[in-house]
Amino acid sequence: MQIRFISSRPADAAALVLPVGKAGIASLGDAGLESATAALVRGAAEGARFDGEPGTIAEIFVPQGNGAARVILLGTGSGTEQDLERAGGALTARFLTAGIPALVIDLSTLSTAGATAVARLLAAAEQRSWRHDVYRTRMPASARPTLERIEVVGAPEGIDAAWTDAKALTGGLALTRTLVSEPPNVLYPESFVERCRHLEELGVEITVLDEAAMRDLGMGALLGVSQGSVREAQLLTMRWNGKGEGDVDVAFVGKGVTFDTGGISLKPGAGMEDMKWDMGGAGAVAGAMKALALRKAKANVIGVCGLVENMPDGNAQRPGDIVTSMSGQTIEVLNTDAEGRLVLCDAITWVQRTHKPKTIVDLATLTGAMIIALGNEHGGLFANDDSLADELLAAGKATGDKLWRFPLSPAYDKLIDSPIADMKNIGGRGAGSITAAQFIGRFVEPEVRWAHLDIAGMVWADKPGVAWDKGATGFGVRVLDRFVRDQFEG
Ligand code: BES
Ligand code: MN
Ligand code: ZN
Repeated sequence: MQIRFISSRPADAAALVLPVGKAGIASLGDAGLESATAALVRGAAEGARFDGEPGTIAEIFVPQGNGAARVILLGTGSGTEQDLERAGGALTARFLTAGIPALVIDLSTLSTAGATAVARLLAAAEQRSWRHDVYRTRMPASARPTLERIEVVGAPEGIDAAWTDAKALTGGLALTRTLVSEPPNVLYPESFVERCRHLEELGVEITVLDEAAMRDLGMGALLGVSQGSVREAQLLTMRWNGKGEGDVDVAFVGKGVTFDTGGISLKPGAGMEDMKWDMGGAGAVAGAMKALALRKAKANVIGVCGLVENMPDGNAQRPGDIVTSMSGQTIEVLNTDAEGRLVLCDAITWVQRTHKPKTIVDLATLTGAMIIALGNEHGGLFANDDSLADELLAAGKATGDKLWRFPLSPAYDKLIDSPIADMKNIGGRGAGSITAAQFIGRFVEPEVRWAHLDIAGMVWADKPGVAWDKGATGFGVRVLDRFVRDQFEG
């Protein structure tokens, strides 16, 4: 779907969208319609009890020539960025497969909304049209998207810059959603890397470590997870140097388990297919790097994806195995299904030694316990630094990628002590998400500001959301993009 800015409302628009705020339909006046048509629209809107609530829609057919055209009233509520985003998403949700190729949206009535807010409405409209239909070869015509473009009249000043940034985010989200949606026979560590190669054309530097390289570096924790799989593990690094040479502002590290069977600690069969999206953290990192590159962010950012497949096999790691991580710390692997932390710990050690970031944010679909605690409304945030936590919470709130902070403490940390090695890879029954975070924290250098986002409940949705359909949400991309903008691009 395409969004185009045009200078005046075409006289023969077959579908005209008019935003209506909380003040209701009365505030719309004639909206440039003939007075009889305007009266019809007002009457129909009242009859349908349309009141301008954000994301609500009233569709009214009006006479035009010998036929009919649609006037679509789009509720924009109080006109906040969040309300406008909801409106944009709702518009596409309603008309994506409705049989019309184009909508004209006249923003003149939204005179108080700034460029950023309007860009957000339009970006949500575009993002909501994202689908992954590549494997549907027999899709009935009635299910196919028909909406090809939205033409925008009356956009506010400054829309060009705001739109460039919003489109960058949309591009990043699309990459993340594609990576998350692809099936695990298609998306595995090496093909994940290939799907990120195009970032080089945007100026992102890519380096990849294969298993031999990781073995030389002593990444026994990550490699232990991979050893039951015929797929070769990869450590993918993407570097965006928007400020030019110099210090790394922040490193993002993503869990990229392209399929998590649990390994020898095998998961139950029901619902195991969900574990194709156990690479959602890595997917978010890749999408965020793409968004930063597309909008040429003035920041130096590293994105690292630890990519492995967790399979049971004659060569798979066993419960009870002790592995040595790149940091030198030894780990008793009591449950091969607690594999994400084993992947992240080596990726984090590597990025600290190689790139010396002062701030690290890792993202992972790390624990089922996170979903028990927060459901599908917030990602869990864990941090060793209050200001970093606050920065991420604020970025989450501003973008809709909502986060909720959890505690870390020496008392929790003790729960992963092992009698035979430096630590074990699981705690007890309680506080499963926290002990997982404590585990990762043991690999973070004391002077590094570090946050861990457990996004297990957020990367995949069973029902449509503001700017996404059921399925991959792209969670993480917005909050990372915003965090970089607010903290490092000043
Ligand atoms: N990838 C899973 C966590 C997960 C579960 C994400 C369900 C999304 C939905 C992770 O690797 C895992 O299996 N964690 C275990 C840890 C346990 C063995 C300590 C879990 O949460 O059960
Ligand atoms: Mn697991
Ligand atoms: Zn996992």
